[in-house]
Amino acid sequence: MAVPPIAPLETQTRKADHLRICLDQDVQFLRKTHGLERYRFTHCCLPELDRDQIDIDTNFLGRRLGAPLLISSMTGGTEQARLINTRLATLAQQHRLAMGVGSQRVAIENPELTPTFAVRSLAPDILLLANLGAVQLNYGYGLEQCQRVIDALEADALILHLNPLQECVQTRGDTNFKGLLNKIEGLCAQLPVPVIAKEVGNGISAAMAQKLINVGITAIDVAGAGGTSWARVESERANDPKQRRLGNTFADWGMPTAECITTIRAIAPVIPLIASGGLRNGLEVAKAIALGADIAGLAWPFLQAASESEAALQELVEALIAEIATVLFCTGKANLIGLRDANTLQRLV
Ligand SMILES: Cc1cc2nc3c(=O)[nH]c(=O)nc-3n(C[C@H](O)[C@H](O)[C@H](O)COP(=O)(O)O)c2cc1C
Repeated sequence: MAVPPIAPLETQTRKADHLRICLDQDVQFLRKTHGLERYRFTHCCLPELDRDQIDIDTNFLGRRLGAPLLISSMTGGTEQARLINTRLATLAQQHRLAMGVGSQRVAIENPELTPTFAVRSLAPDILLLANLGAVQLNYGYGLEQCQRVIDALEADALILHLNPLQECVQTRGDTNFKGLLNKIEGLCAQLPVPVIAKEVGNGISAAMAQKLINVGITAIDVAGAGGTSWARVESERANDPKQRRLGNTFADWGMPTAECITTIRAIAPVIPLIASGGLRNGLEVAKAIALGADIAGLAWPFLQAASESEAALQELVEALIAEIATVLFCTGKANLIGLRDANTLQRLV
């Protein structure tokens, strides 16, 4: 099916705005947090381990990762985005991290922009994730467009992002979400790669996770509340005072990341699960894994570092890795699986 003609420039401008606003303005959740501060690891005063032998490798969707980290989906479609994607992919290859690119809709609308996403040659060995908004399935997109973005990226899997609040606040947002579950089911059955369902910072409930699993989704990225607030980002972009007000009213909407992880893991013990939304250091990553996530995604911290320099990105990843390893050492665990042992993480009352 052909994609209806829309103004390609509008999508490209929006992508540039998103980068500018996320880099220059405070668009994090106002008061709500990811909820991980309500947990504390039990300190082990005698680990009986050599810190240098601690192993933070893990498997996810068939790839070996050097650390349980995903560079969350962010960008593409502009020259600045190309530079950021290039830096992120180089880093991901070096440390064997997973990486998502931003929504590739802009490259479907304007194929000339495809190279701003094309990072596979820089990162031949990483778990690389394509990205489209699920709502586009109601606006002319289907199997063909999904296959095209997967092929263009040489991706291992496709993320379908679910962003109803963002679309409500976005000027001329796409707000017809009717019948999407059926369409997602069709895609899961027909695409040759796994499909991952992801929010963008408002969280996925256990009930929704169950529905998504029932229609064939392979993995879930909770993208919970507590980090970058897309209501705030779109509110900053909007010229219309009504849209600005809407974004401000819903600035703190959503389910905290910690709650999404625990509730989804309780009903889906084996689904590959990504924790994200507000994670800012390796201690939080380790808590998310102890709560049941397999790996953890960060967007905003990687964006800030990538826009600064390659050295800033290296520093960030080395800090994250050292923090995760320090949690393992100081809880007496030799690897990530041990973090799930009973009594390793306590919920504070
Ligand atoms: C500049 C920017 C652009 C983003 N664009 C996308 C996108 O195109 N598709 C998507 O699924 N998520 C997108 N996100 C959302 C992130 O992947 C993530 O879910 C969200 O920002 C919460 O994570 P954080 O608190 O670590 O930033 C974007 C985030 C940022 C910062």
